[in-house]
Amino acid sequence: MLGLAKRALEHFKNKTTDQAEGIMSNSIEAYVNSDRYQNEIERIYKTLPLALCLSSEISNANSHRAMKVIDTPVLITRGEDMKARAFLNVCRHRGSQVCEEGRGEKRNFICPYHAWTYNHEGKLVGMYGEKTFGDLNKEEFGLIELNCEERAGLIWVTLNPKVQFDIDSWLGDFALELETLNLKEWHIFDQREIEGPGWKVALDGYLEAYHHNQLHGDTVGKHTVGNLLVLDTYGPHQRLTFGRKSLSELIDKPEEEWEDPLDHIRLIHSGFPNLSISGVLGGHCLVSQIFPTSSPDFTITRQTILSAEEPKTKEEKKTTQDFSDMVLQAVVDEDYKMGLQIQSNISKLESHNFVYGKNEPAVQNYHNWVDKFMNTEGSNW
Ligand code: FES
Ligand SMILES: [Fe+2]
Repeated sequence: MLGLAKRALEHFKNKTTDQAEGIMSNSIEAYVNSDRYQNEIERIYKTLPLALCLSSEISNANSHRAMKVIDTPVLITRGEDMKARAFLNVCRHRGSQVCEEGRGEKRNFICPYHAWTYNHEGKLVGMYGEKTFGDLNKEEFGLIELNCEERAGLIWVTLNPKVQFDIDSWLGDFALELETLNLKEWHIFDQREIEGPGWKVALDGYLEAYHHNQLHGDTVGKHTVGNLLVLDTYGPHQRLTFGRKSLSELIDKPEEEWEDPLDHIRLIHSGFPNLSISGVLGGHCLVSQIFPTSSPDFTITRQTILSAEEPKTKEEKKTTQDFSDMVLQAVVDEDYKMGLQIQSNISKLESHNFVYGKNEPAVQNYHNWVDKFMNTEGSNW
């Protein structure tokens, strides 16, 4: 953290930022072409491991989290053996959704159509009117399992059941960075889903500090230094460090007297393709998962507000609520309001390009990786 604070302070003093080698342009097609969009969804979202759920969302034995991801109903469970597993949330009898969306705890999953019953390992363990149904080998009719790994307080899943992955090679050293956040131990204060612009327009906004002063002057921009970015990359994943305004206090202070360097920077862990973990203010954290939909024009973002400790006193609850309200405002009234406007204008620029400045290296990396995945055969992660 000290190293990051030093790098941020250097930029603060010199009014500089980490930079890419040059300006990069990207065609508007990359944002609006629906064939291209469908291919990218298949190749990226349905093939690469996605962090679908926080470990703490299913911390107890016999807990679960069900959700729809793009068009795929997913059920993530933790059984008595405490192992996280993921399944298609689709009944093997005739396709009903086995578990309603959301989080909870229950002994078994009873299909709402004809009451076939599955356990947390996805096994078919009971059939209503079994004797009348006829002979059926229950072992062959378990839920379809998706590949699933738990790492760094997150549960990673591939949506295509045929795709295997190795979480360690997918995350590389980024896993160590995520581990330092200790996400598993944090308290879930709130969770909500909000509509936003298309995938790339939404994501671009998470990857630069160039817009902070202008767009977020009254919210997060009050705390961060606009256009200052310290960037570290881990394959497709990135850690962005923004400077906080309080960096100014360090200018004349000897390093030995710096207290917590984290007071002066803000870390964003950006997991490709749709995860952003943002420690904004001491003891509070925002996890954003941006999910594409069947339309290239809009996304659903699941925001989870975490606090290091469960807020107990009235004052602690208020501080956490204030943080939660501020990030909601910054995203809904500022980022996504802007993003939705961009989304509706964007096709007017067809046949032209967007440009990403040298001061927006994380945006450049992101789009380069999208292209890389689209141009690579296979899925051996
Ligand atoms: S569809 Fe699930 S029991 Fe019939
Ligand atoms: Fe923003």
